[in-house]
Amino acid sequence: MIYINNTPKYPKCMQKKPFHHLHIIISMAITPLTFISFLILTSLTTITSATEHHHPQIKHVTPSSSDQIRQACKATRNLTLCESSFSRSSNITKPTDIIQTALSMSLNNIHTAQAKVQEILKTSTNNPNRTTAAKNCMEHLRNSEYRIKSTLEALPQGKIKDARAWTSAGFAYQYDCWSGLKYVNDTKIVVDTMSFIATFLISYTSNALSMIRAYDVFGDNTTLWGPPKTERDGFWEKGEGGGHGLRVPVGLKVDVTVCKGAGGGCKYKTVQEAVNVAPDWGGGRQFVILVKAGVYKETVRVGLEKQNVVILGEGMGKTLITGDMNVGQSGVSTYNTATVGVLGDGFMASNLTFENTAGPDAHQAVAFRTSSDRSIMENCEFLGNQDTLYTNTLRQFFKSCRIEGNVDFIFGNSATIFQDCTILVRPRQVEAEKGEKNAVTAHARNDPAQSTGFVFRNCLINGTKEYMKLYNSNPKVHKTFLGRPWKDFSRTVFIGCTLEALIAPEGWMPWEGDFGLTTLYYGEYNNTGKGADTTRRVEWSSQIPHKHVNVYDITNFIQGDQWKLRS
Ligand SMILES: *[C@@H]1O[C@H](CO)[C@@H](O)[C@H](O)[C@H]1NC(C)=O
Ligand SMILES: *[C@@H]1O[C@H](CO)[C@@H](O)[C@H](O)[C@H]1NC(C)=O
Ligand SMILES: *[C@@H]1O[C@H](CO)[C@@H](O)[C@H](O)[C@H]1NC(C)=O
Ligand SMILES: *[C@@H]1O[C@H](CO)[C@@H](O)[C@H](O)[C@H]1NC(C)=O
Ligand SMILES: *[C@@H]1O[C@H](CO)[C@@H](O)[C@H](O)[C@H]1NC(C)=O
Ligand SMILES: *[C@@H]1O[C@H](CO)[C@@H](O)[C@H](O)[C@H]1NC(C)=O
Ligand SMILES: *[C@@H]1O[C@H](CO)[C@@H](O)[C@H](O)[C@H]1NC(C)=O
Ligand SMILES: *[C@@H]1O[C@H](CO)[C@@H](O)[C@H](O)[C@H]1NC(C)=O
Repeated sequence: MIYINNTPKYPKCMQKKPFHHLHIIISMAITPLTFISFLILTSLTTITSATEHHHPQIKHVTPSSSDQIRQACKATRNLTLCESSFSRSSNITKPTDIIQTALSMSLNNIHTAQAKVQEILKTSTNNPNRTTAAKNCMEHLRNSEYRIKSTLEALPQGKIKDARAWTSAGFAYQYDCWSGLKYVNDTKIVVDTMSFIATFLISYTSNALSMIRAYDVFGDNTTLWGPPKTERDGFWEKGEGGGHGLRVPVGLKVDVTVCKGAGGGCKYKTVQEAVNVAPDWGGGRQFVILVKAGVYKETVRVGLEKQNVVILGEGMGKTLITGDMNVGQSGVSTYNTATVGVLGDGFMASNLTFENTAGPDAHQAVAFRTSSDRSIMENCEFLGNQDTLYTNTLRQFFKSCRIEGNVDFIFGNSATIFQDCTILVRPRQVEAEKGEKNAVTAHARNDPAQSTGFVFRNCLINGTKEYMKLYNSNPKVHKTFLGRPWKDFSRTVFIGCTLEALIAPEGWMPWEGDFGLTTLYYGEYNNTGKGADTTRRVEWSSQIPHKHVNVYDITNFIQGDQWKLRS
């Protein structure tokens, strides 16, 4: 019996049947000079209007781009689309200029998508579900815009790893927007908007991302460029040894203190009030919030502009931020359920608990969601059931944390390393004794060029005492797997971990049918414990070759050697 709720929240990946109808292709007239400013650049870009979009006829565009563009487009998953997206008058030869142009087209189309979604919002005032989907979509598109703009600035400075991480996220947000609309696609404008996003946004960004990946992997000799390959194709990116640890610095100067009750003598009684006074964009400086021991029942949002916020508690279980939002509530999607949700870069937290206590049968209910780049969480606890920890996008490091849940309880499309963490399966809340299938992870990479994946190093995977009691009473019906593929290119590895007896001999479970099974990468290396025996693993799991293990270290996987830890 499968108790995993597979249905509404998790769309099947659109990539199986991707961008259906391409109506017309962007034409651009651009000279290298325009790269001085992408603002000028985007104003030169023209795109299809909404009305043109309804016309069924397809304009066939003969590829006429320069040889260099044709060569660069070989890096993408859709050569025809890529070539035709550059106008015949394009005379761009430098690989980085070709990439910048592709990114600018994508940025310009974000602006069109934003206008369309705004229109949905306007016409949905008495429809809470559609309003939520449109609002979330606006947030995703803003995040996408921010990351693509940042990439346009980073590339000319040679920051290729950042460019790739940020465009990976820019892509993921566009997909998130699209997949949120999928559940409210009952009006024409929603269907049109989805079609625009799939055709002119997601596919264009995928092309730019693929070229960035090729540039990262092969450098600027475009004759070497080819479509993105993954470990599953037997392709390994460079991984020279190295990588020191990352920690939340100790002895940071506290800016504000939060505490409960009258006697506390603190200016701030809620975490959110303290976050609100952090300076916007941070000026590169950390803003340190000490949250004294106590239970804070609130929803906390750290916005995109609240960068370098640090939250220090007085210990796991002592400082507790808790909530109970869940998808059973009207107008609430998984994204919105997070007790604490972070967008701003450089977020750090230490010594506290994040919790979601949504009742039995509540399905998706997130305790902590992060889309913060270069974020460190240390000695933190995450408590929930289904979907406890949503590491949505970008690069994070979790050190010595405790994570509890049951269904897909570590999920998202980020590049995250979990080091020295304790990960515990807890019982389902309803009819726990009947048995179930649990997946520790559900990684959601949906494009092979994305630099995302989950890496577990020196972690313990076990059950809580209560769960192990159930498990031991009838091991046959209580099954726990290391992960399952939420999206086609799901990537998760366990290295040097202790996998306790509760991990099923098969190791990994499918999402639905054979979805993603030939494209995912699930790797194991040097694990111990009763659950680490790989002799009966599913055939689509892998052992990581010894010489490639370094690909998953702090330096290579999340560029942790370049993180600025202290202001
Ligand atoms: C490339 O994109 C076009 C336009 O969206 C689409 O019709 C075509 O099927 C795509 N080709 C591949 C190989 O995905
Ligand atoms: C393209 O640009 C190069 C150098 O900028 C120039 O020499 C060449 O004539 C241009 N080709 C066309 C077709 O405009
Ligand atoms: C809104 O979504 C909820 C599930 O999240 C569903 O139960 C409800 O029927 C939806 N409302 C409308 C008007 O579609
Ligand atoms: C709209 O949603 C329905 C139900 O989820 C689905 O069958 C249909 O394919 C969707 N249409 C589009 C354009 O995605
Ligand atoms: C690019 O790579 C090809 C294939 O390895 C090689 O023949 C060519 O010399 C290289 N070009 C440059 C400019 O390095
Ligand atoms: C977290 O708490 C431990 C134990 O009290 C303390 O040693 C450590 O310095 C704290 N971490 C931070 C970043 O304040
Ligand atoms: C796993 O949990 C069980 C039950 O609480 C405990 O007996 C066992 O020691 C744990 N394993 C490890 C490696 O800590
Ligand atoms: C394998 O893991 C053990 C700890 O379980 C560690 O001491 C050892 O260095 C690891 N070996 C390799 C080759 O990584």
